[in-house]
Amino acid sequence: MPSSSSTPACLRWIGDVGGRLELLDQTLLPSRHEWIGCPDVESVVEAIKSLRVRGAPAIGIAGAYGLAVAAAEAGRRGLEPGLAREHLHARAAELDSARPTAVNLRWAVRRTVAAVERLPADAPTTALEAAVLTEARAIHAEDRELCAAIGRHGARALAEALAAAPGAGVLTHCNTGALATGGDGTALAAITTAWDDGHRFDVFADETRPLFQGARLTAWELVQRGIPVTVLVDSAAGQLMRTGRVAACIVGADRITASGDVANKIGTYSLAVLAAAHGIPFFVAAPSSTFDLSIDGGDAIPIEQRAATEVTHPLGMQAAPDGVLAYNPAFDVTPAALIRGIVTEHGLIQPVDRERIADVLRATL
Ligand code: MRU
Repeated sequence: MPSSSSTPACLRWIGDVGGRLELLDQTLLPSRHEWIGCPDVESVVEAIKSLRVRGAPAIGIAGAYGLAVAAAEAGRRGLEPGLAREHLHARAAELDSARPTAVNLRWAVRRTVAAVERLPADAPTTALEAAVLTEARAIHAEDRELCAAIGRHGARALAEALAAAPGAGVLTHCNTGALATGGDGTALAAITTAWDDGHRFDVFADETRPLFQGARLTAWELVQRGIPVTVLVDSAAGQLMRTGRVAACIVGADRITASGDVANKIGTYSLAVLAAAHGIPFFVAAPSSTFDLSIDGGDAIPIEQRAATEVTHPLGMQAAPDGVLAYNPAFDVTPAALIRGIVTEHGLIQPVDRERIADVLRATL
């Protein structure tokens, strides 16, 4: 088996100020690997809504670059600085509401707007353009570093769990790798780093209905890296655990509250309940930009509801009769009590409670 190496990025900025944003269209994977251009903010918003770009950190980075697209629009239209700022604010509102659950999107867009606000009031439009692109690039570059740190800390937690359950493997859900971030990923980086460190174990990926991010994207990334992966239907996780094949679960997050409740891809909560029932450690991996300390408990997290057709017509094939209703929340909330530890760039938050979260995050507040 070849050794693991980095997978391709999921988004890139071509050129400098006035350049363009390109996204790897993830709706086409694994059968087609195609980059699409985003000539205007509408196309960035559409790409975020339709999951051409997805994963909490990646949509944050796309939102920041989306503002660079907006700034370039202002430059091309020759807007004077006051109008250019108004244009950026209007576009920021469209970008940060493109998807409601992942707080990284709002965080990255607001951080980029703040970079513009720090410029002198009489700064020319060209300075606005440069400031937006510089901030977007900084967010992108920082995310690479955060992923690397999360990978290191997460690999240590997994190594311990693997040592405690010889012969068992690691189960993950959705996609939390290079396709979901600006670097090598969060939960998936923990898995690939453990593999790179020489640990050998089974990697299990839930297919992750209804959009199959596990089967289409996580499995694709692991194949690219030469790491063997076993895909299972989401409902097989209980049987896998009952037969002793899971040493640990590790997943990502879209928003984590001050008390440690975690919103993540639908199916995460069921997995955490199953893990608790089998005494299996359940880890969450996320950068500090995924924490929303303005919210105390998970009930306050807005949960995105998506189109019924994603359930009735999976992968475009009719799977339910015409006229049925579908329940399709994109995310669920896992209470802190079910989570063994949260892996951040600063290290492992364990136990998961308000005090420990505040302690570990103090560095970034
Ligand atoms: O709907 P998606 O594919 O954007 O959902 C992605 C997830 O739920 C991920 O687990 C989460 O964003 C973390 S990505 C590092």
